[in-house]
Amino acid sequence: MPFLPCSVNGVRGGFSDTLWAMDIREQFEENKVLAPYCTYQIGGPADLFFEAESVKDALAAIEWAEEHDVPLFVFGGGSNLLFDDAGFRGLVLRMRVREIEVDGHLIHAGAGAKAGEVVKAALEAGLTGLESWNGLPGTVGGAVYGNAGCFEVECKDVLESALIYMAGEGVEEVNPYFFEYDYRNSKLKREPAVVLQATFKLNQGDPVEIKSRMMEILKLRATKQPPGLSTGSFFKNPEGGKSAGQLIDECGLKGMSLGKAKISEHHGNFFMNTGGATAEDVMALGEKAVAAVKERFGIELEREIVFVPAQ
Ligand code: EPU
Repeated sequence: MPFLPCSVNGVRGGFSDTLWAMDIREQFEENKVLAPYCTYQIGGPADLFFEAESVKDALAAIEWAEEHDVPLFVFGGGSNLLFDDAGFRGLVLRMRVREIEVDGHLIHAGAGAKAGEVVKAALEAGLTGLESWNGLPGTVGGAVYGNAGCFEVECKDVLESALIYMAGEGVEEVNPYFFEYDYRNSKLKREPAVVLQATFKLNQGDPVEIKSRMMEILKLRATKQPPGLSTGSFFKNPEGGKSAGQLIDECGLKGMSLGKAKISEHHGNFFMNTGGATAEDVMALGEKAVAAVKERFGIELEREIVFVPAQ
């Protein structure tokens, strides 16, 4: 059963409540258009759709999909993915478990908590280390899954532990080494599991300095990142040398359009939906950039965003 992770918060131990899993089916919505659930605002209908507000509900939905051999796709903020124009033939599970708890230098957050909410909790507790995530649109689950990073802080730098669900193995608490983190990469991209909760370890800091760094980050974002419908960086930066944005820029592709998809005039690695773009337009524009960069520089750009095929 193919499934991709994101997350939830909470329970320790496995879950096997068959009655609950049977009831959960009644809560699934049918033919639910996915576009409103991602920052791209693109995507057709999912056969089945469910928003889990608790770990128990999330695990029941996962168990239902496993038992019925229904393909499952799990996501959180939808800020780093592109749904197919044809939607998804199976169950799409949106993690909405958003509890955040501060315990000394530790912050426990549900996988569905927004990165920005964790940053706010850190500020309120006078904890430093996560200011760079101010304005990051994703959720905790997505950050753990993809080793999200910006302005010098990656998830691996602050993660203390995570609670995950693995098919056939149940719920387990793992330390950061489990994820074999690398730049925008983790073991979860190779061996899918669902992130339920994460604990971040921060340091005591000065709230005035934390706030000022947070503001600085917002300003940096505003100057570097174009507003509008996108998923942030479309490609990963190749190792060493020039960034993906610079390579695309030097190929003269900024401003190039395909249908309603457009490479931002401000940043070569931002692929925008200017209104009504299809996933096909975006993917085709991405392929044009890959081909141009390959021809000019001999470098194969690798997508950072996750494309979710309908089947
Ligand atoms: N550049 C150009 N032309 C462009 C775009 C960029 O010449 O069209 C140059 C810039 O002048 C700069 C260099 O390329 O010298 C790097 O650009 P930038 O500072 O904008 O950062 P980036 O490498 O494009 C990365 C992350 C961002 C993160 C920023 C800040 C990746 C793929 N992207 O962008 O993450 O916010 O650094 O830390 O690693 C994301 O992953 O979605 C994301 C937004």
